[in-house]
Amino acid sequence: MSTVDPTIEPLREGDLSEVLQLEAENPSPWSRALWVDELRQPGGWQWQARDRGTGDLLGFLCGRTVGSEAELFKLAVAASGRRRGIATALLAHACRMLRNGGVAVLYLELRCSNEAAMALYTRMGFSISGVRKGYYTDPGEDALVMMKRL
Ligand SMILES: CC(C)(COP(=O)(O)OP(=O)(O)OC[C@H]1O[C@@H](n2cnc3c(N)ncnc32)[C@H](O)[C@@H]1OP(=O)(O)O)[C@@H](O)C(=O)NCCC(=O)NCCS
Repeated sequence: MSTVDPTIEPLREGDLSEVLQLEAENPSPWSRALWVDELRQPGGWQWQARDRGTGDLLGFLCGRTVGSEAELFKLAVAASGRRRGIATALLAHACRMLRNGGVAVLYLELRCSNEAAMALYTRMGFSISGVRKGYYTDPGEDALVMMKRL
């Protein structure tokens, strides 16, 4: 499939119905209450990718910054829009904005079995910095910790 060039904008409370729908496609979706809480967190950042023509939500990411370090909590792309560069565009945007804001390093965790995410993050310059045994539940699984210097 060909690469798309989505718009990337801050994610707001009014976008949450679409976000929750997209999240339902993946393991460990957050509730609306958790999302609302996250949107209000100091140091929190959330961006969404939308189709330039239709305005449809294509994907989103969120995380938080503390001092010079940031952590990516979530990144997801609609199943129907994958392998078209949307996650790459979202991550590149986040890395650029965080670096411009003085963040030196970005961390994230992923399921050991998540080969798609592993391939994406490796290609985006992340490297493995550790393993968290039994980090995930439902289903239980170890987490890989990855990091990238921005
Ligand atoms: C992981 C995910 C975010 C990737 O989104 P995406 O928009 O399809 O990713 P991109 O199109 O930007 O992919 C960039 C590169 O990552 C790698 N990649 C992405 N998906 C892949 C897959 N299913 N298998 C192998 N490599 C993959 C490829 O190198 C790809 O480049 P290519 O398509 O030119 O080969 C998406 O599959 C997703 O939402 N998965 C469910 C949620 C999730 O696992 N999030 C990450 C949690 S840590």
